[in-house]
Amino acid sequence: MKKAVDKVDYDVSGLRAVATFPFVDGIRFPLIGQTVLIASVNRENDPSLGVKSSISVFSSRPAIVGFGCQVKDVIAKNILSTGEFVINVPSADLARKIWKIVEAVPNGEKEIQELGLTPVKSVKLSTPRIAECKAHLECSLDWTKKYGDEMVIFGRVLLASVDKDVVEAELAERYKQLKLFAQLDNGLYGVIKEAKQVPAK
Ligand SMILES: Cc1cc2nc3c(=O)[nH]c(=O)nc-3n(C[C@H](O)[C@H](O)[C@H](O)COP(=O)(O)O)c2cc1C
Repeated sequence: MKKAVDKVDYDVSGLRAVATFPFVDGIRFPLIGQTVLIASVNRENDPSLGVKSSISVFSSRPAIVGFGCQVKDVIAKNILSTGEFVINVPSADLARKIWKIVEAVPNGEKEIQELGLTPVKSVKLSTPRIAECKAHLECSLDWTKKYGDEMVIFGRVLLASVDKDVVEAELAERYKQLKLFAQLDNGLYGVIKEAKQVPAK
Protein backbone atom coordinates (compact mmCIF):
# COMPACT_ATOMS: atom_id res chain seq x y z
CA MET A 1 0.00 0.00 0.00
CA LYS A 2 1.26 3.50 -0.78
CA LYS A 3 2.65 5.32 2.27
CA ALA A 4 0.21 7.95 3.50
CA VAL A 5 1.22 11.53 4.22
CA ASP A 6 2.05 11.98 7.94
CA LYS A 7 -1.05 12.96 9.93
CA VAL A 8 -1.90 14.12 13.43
CA ASP A 9 -5.04 12.32 14.64
CA TYR A 10 -7.43 13.86 17.18
CA ASP A 11 -9.76 11.30 18.75
CA VAL A 12 -12.69 13.37 20.00
CA SER A 13 -15.12 10.47 20.47
CA GLY A 14 -14.51 10.26 24.24
CA LEU A 15 -14.58 14.01 24.84
CA ARG A 16 -17.60 16.13 25.65
CA ALA A 17 -18.65 17.27 22.20
CA VAL A 18 -20.06 20.59 23.40
CA ALA A 19 -16.74 21.52 25.02
CA THR A 20 -14.57 20.50 22.10
CA PHE A 21 -16.35 21.29 18.86
CA PRO A 22 -15.34 23.05 16.67
CA PHE A 23 -11.96 23.44 18.35
CA VAL A 24 -9.72 20.47 18.98
CA ASP A 25 -6.34 21.32 20.49
CA GLY A 26 -6.82 24.87 19.19
CA ILE A 27 -7.44 23.69 15.65
CA ARG A 28 -10.77 24.14 13.91
CA PHE A 29 -12.06 21.01 12.24
CA PRO A 30 -11.07 21.24 8.59
CA LEU A 31 -14.58 22.06 7.43
CA ILE A 32 -15.35 25.65 6.58
CA GLY A 33 -18.66 27.34 6.00
CA GLN A 34 -19.71 30.47 4.16
CA THR A 35 -20.31 33.51 6.33
CA VAL A 36 -23.88 34.79 6.31
CA LEU A 37 -25.89 37.38 8.17
CA ILE A 38 -29.14 35.98 9.53
CA ALA A 39 -31.94 38.47 10.13
CA SER A 40 -34.89 37.74 12.39
CA VAL A 41 -37.61 39.69 14.20
CA ASN A 42 -39.27 39.29 17.58
CA ARG A 43 -43.05 39.37 18.07
CA GLU A 44 -42.91 43.19 18.22
CA ASN A 45 -41.19 43.18 14.82
CA ASP A 46 -37.83 44.48 16.15
CA PRO A 47 -35.08 43.12 13.90
CA SER A 48 -31.90 41.42 15.13
CA LEU A 49 -28.86 40.05 13.30
CA GLY A 50 -26.66 37.01 13.82
CA VAL A 51 -23.41 36.02 12.08
CA LYS A 52 -23.20 32.34 11.19
CA SER A 53 -20.87 30.19 9.13
CA SER A 54 -22.06 26.69 9.96
CA ILE A 55 -24.56 26.77 7.10
CA SER A 56 -25.37 24.63 4.09
CA VAL A 57 -28.00 23.59 1.56
CA PHE A 58 -29.50 20.21 2.49
CA SER A 59 -32.07 19.75 -0.25
CA SER A 60 -32.78 21.54 -3.51
CA ARG A 61 -36.35 20.28 -4.12
CA PRO A 62 -37.70 21.63 -1.84
CA ALA A 63 -34.95 24.16 -1.14
CA ILE A 64 -33.88 23.48 2.44
CA VAL A 65 -31.02 25.26 4.18
CA GLY A 66 -29.76 24.66 7.71
CA PHE A 67 -27.45 26.46 10.09
CA GLY A 68 -26.05 25.90 13.57
CA CYS A 69 -26.44 28.43 16.40
CA GLN A 70 -26.60 28.75 20.19
CA VAL A 71 -29.99 27.98 21.76
CA LYS A 72 -29.67 31.28 23.70
CA ASP A 73 -29.01 33.37 20.55
CA VAL A 74 -31.58 36.13 20.05
CA ILE A 75 -32.07 35.04 16.45
CA ALA A 76 -32.83 31.45 17.58
CA LYS A 77 -35.49 32.70 20.03
CA ASN A 78 -36.94 35.01 17.39
CA ILE A 79 -37.08 32.34 14.69
CA LEU A 80 -38.80 29.88 17.04
CA SER A 81 -41.45 32.46 17.91
CA THR A 82 -42.09 33.95 14.43
CA GLY A 83 -41.26 30.95 12.20
CA GLU A 84 -39.25 32.99 9.70
CA PHE A 85 -35.80 34.40 8.94
CA VAL A 86 -33.74 35.89 6.13
CA ILE A 87 -30.28 34.64 5.18
CA ASN A 88 -28.33 37.63 3.85
CA VAL A 89 -25.20 36.88 1.81
CA PRO A 90 -22.47 39.49 2.39
CA SER A 91 -19.35 40.03 0.31
CA ALA A 92 -15.93 40.15 1.97
CA ASP A 93 -16.15 43.95 1.77
CA LEU A 94 -18.45 43.72 4.81
CA ALA A 95 -16.05 41.59 6.93
CA ARG A 96 -15.17 44.40 9.35
CA LYS A 97 -18.83 45.23 9.99
CA ILE A 98 -19.65 41.55 10.40
CA TRP A 99 -17.09 41.07 13.16
CA LYS A 100 -18.49 44.19 14.87
CA ILE A 101 -21.92 42.52 14.90
CA VAL A 102 -20.44 39.55 16.76
CA GLU A 103 -18.91 41.90 19.40
CA ALA A 104 -22.28 43.59 20.07
CA VAL A 105 -25.32 41.86 18.60
CA PRO A 106 -27.53 44.66 17.28
CA ASN A 107 -31.11 44.66 18.50
CA GLY A 108 -33.57 46.95 16.74
CA GLU A 109 -33.47 48.91 13.52
CA LYS A 110 -31.52 51.84 15.04
CA GLU A 111 -28.68 49.63 16.31
CA ILE A 112 -28.45 47.91 12.93
CA GLN A 113 -28.28 51.30 11.18
CA GLU A 114 -25.57 52.48 13.59
CA LEU A 115 -23.41 49.65 12.27
CA GLY A 116 -23.81 51.08 8.76
CA LEU A 117 -26.30 48.44 7.66
CA THR A 118 -29.76 49.12 6.28
CA PRO A 119 -32.80 46.93 6.96
CA VAL A 120 -35.15 46.95 3.94
CA LYS A 121 -38.50 45.25 3.28
CA SER A 122 -38.58 41.60 2.26
CA VAL A 123 -41.11 40.32 -0.30
CA LYS A 124 -42.73 37.43 1.59
CA LEU A 125 -41.75 38.00 5.23
CA SER A 126 -41.98 40.60 8.01
CA THR A 127 -38.26 40.03 8.67
CA PRO A 128 -36.22 42.64 6.76
CA ARG A 129 -33.33 42.02 4.42
CA ILE A 130 -30.01 43.82 4.83
CA ALA A 131 -29.57 46.09 1.81
CA GLU A 132 -25.74 45.99 1.76
CA CYS A 133 -25.73 42.21 1.19
CA LYS A 134 -25.57 40.83 -2.35
CA ALA A 135 -28.20 38.10 -2.01
CA HIS A 136 -31.06 37.20 0.32
CA LEU A 137 -32.96 33.99 1.02
CA GLU A 138 -36.36 34.48 2.63
CA CYS A 139 -37.07 31.34 4.67
CA SER A 140 -39.84 29.82 6.75
CA LEU A 141 -38.87 27.64 9.72
CA ASP A 142 -39.04 23.98 8.79
CA TRP A 143 -37.37 21.95 11.57
CA THR A 144 -34.99 22.24 14.52
CA LYS A 145 -32.69 19.83 16.33
CA LYS A 146 -31.02 20.61 19.66
CA TYR A 147 -27.57 19.36 20.75
CA GLY A 148 -26.80 20.59 24.28
CA ASP A 149 -26.48 24.38 24.21
CA GLU A 150 -26.58 24.44 20.41
CA MET A 151 -29.19 23.80 17.79
CA VAL A 152 -29.59 23.37 14.07
CA ILE A 153 -32.33 25.39 12.39
CA PHE A 154 -33.65 24.21 9.05
CA GLY A 155 -35.52 26.63 6.83
CA ARG A 156 -37.48 26.30 3.60
CA VAL A 157 -36.43 28.93 1.07
CA LEU A 158 -39.54 30.78 -0.12
CA LEU A 159 -37.83 33.42 -2.19
CA ALA A 160 -34.26 34.05 -3.35
CA SER A 161 -33.09 37.48 -4.40
CA VAL A 162 -29.72 38.38 -5.95
CA ASP A 163 -28.27 41.76 -6.98
CA LYS A 164 -29.12 42.45 -10.63
CA ASP A 165 -25.47 43.28 -11.51
CA VAL A 166 -24.46 39.83 -10.31
CA VAL A 167 -27.26 37.99 -12.14
CA GLU A 168 -26.46 39.79 -15.40
CA ALA A 169 -22.74 38.93 -15.28
CA GLU A 170 -21.13 35.85 -16.85
CA LEU A 171 -21.02 32.83 -14.52
CA ALA A 172 -17.37 33.13 -13.39
CA GLU A 173 -17.70 36.92 -13.16
CA ARG A 174 -20.63 36.50 -10.75
CA TYR A 175 -18.36 34.96 -8.15
CA LYS A 176 -15.81 37.76 -8.57
CA GLN A 177 -18.57 40.21 -7.72
CA LEU A 178 -20.06 38.19 -4.85
CA LYS A 179 -16.69 37.80 -3.01
CA LEU A 180 -18.16 35.05 -0.82
CA PHE A 181 -16.11 34.34 2.28
CA ALA A 182 -15.68 31.67 4.91
CA GLN A 183 -14.72 31.99 8.56
CA LEU A 184 -11.33 30.39 9.33
CA ASP A 185 -9.64 30.76 12.74
CA ASN A 186 -9.31 33.69 15.16
CA GLY A 187 -10.49 36.53 12.97
CA LEU A 188 -9.10 35.02 9.75
CA TYR A 189 -11.38 34.57 6.78
CA GLY A 190 -10.93 33.15 3.28
CA VAL A 191 -12.38 34.83 0.18
CA ILE A 192 -13.43 33.23 -3.13
CA LYS A 193 -11.81 35.63 -5.59
CA GLU A 194 -11.75 33.46 -8.67
CA ALA A 195 -13.99 30.79 -10.19
CA LYS A 196 -12.18 28.24 -12.37
CA GLN A 197 -13.67 25.94 -15.00
CA VAL A 198 -12.75 22.26 -14.73
CA PRO A 199 -10.76 21.54 -17.93
CA ALA A 200 -12.61 19.39 -20.50
CA LYS A 201 -10.08 16.45 -20.55
C1 LIG B 1 -17.60 34.82 10.78
C2 LIG B 1 -18.29 34.23 11.99
C3 LIG B 1 -19.07 33.10 11.87
C4 LIG B 1 -19.76 32.55 12.96
N1 LIG B 1 -20.52 31.43 12.80
C5 LIG B 1 -21.18 30.91 13.84
C6 LIG B 1 -22.01 29.75 13.67
O1 LIG B 1 -22.11 29.22 12.59
N2 LIG B 1 -22.68 29.28 14.74
C7 LIG B 1 -22.59 29.88 15.96
O2 LIG B 1 -23.24 29.41 16.91
N3 LIG B 1 -21.83 30.97 16.15
C8 LIG B 1 -21.13 31.49 15.12
N4 LIG B 1 -20.37 32.61 15.30
C9 LIG B 1 -20.36 33.26 16.61
C10 LIG B 1 -21.69 34.01 16.77
O3 LIG B 1 -21.80 35.05 15.86
C11 LIG B 1 -21.86 34.48 18.20
O4 LIG B 1 -20.74 35.16 18.62
C12 LIG B 1 -22.13 33.26 19.06
O5 LIG B 1 -23.39 32.77 18.73
C13 LIG B 1 -22.03 33.56 20.55
O6 LIG B 1 -23.05 34.40 20.96
P1 LIG B 1 -22.97 35.08 22.39
O7 LIG B 1 -21.78 36.03 22.33
O8 LIG B 1 -24.28 35.77 22.53
O9 LIG B 1 -22.75 33.97 23.37
C14 LIG B 1 -19.65 33.17 14.22
C15 LIG B 1 -18.86 34.32 14.35
C16 LIG B 1 -18.17 34.83 13.26
C17 LIG B 1 -17.32 36.05 13.42
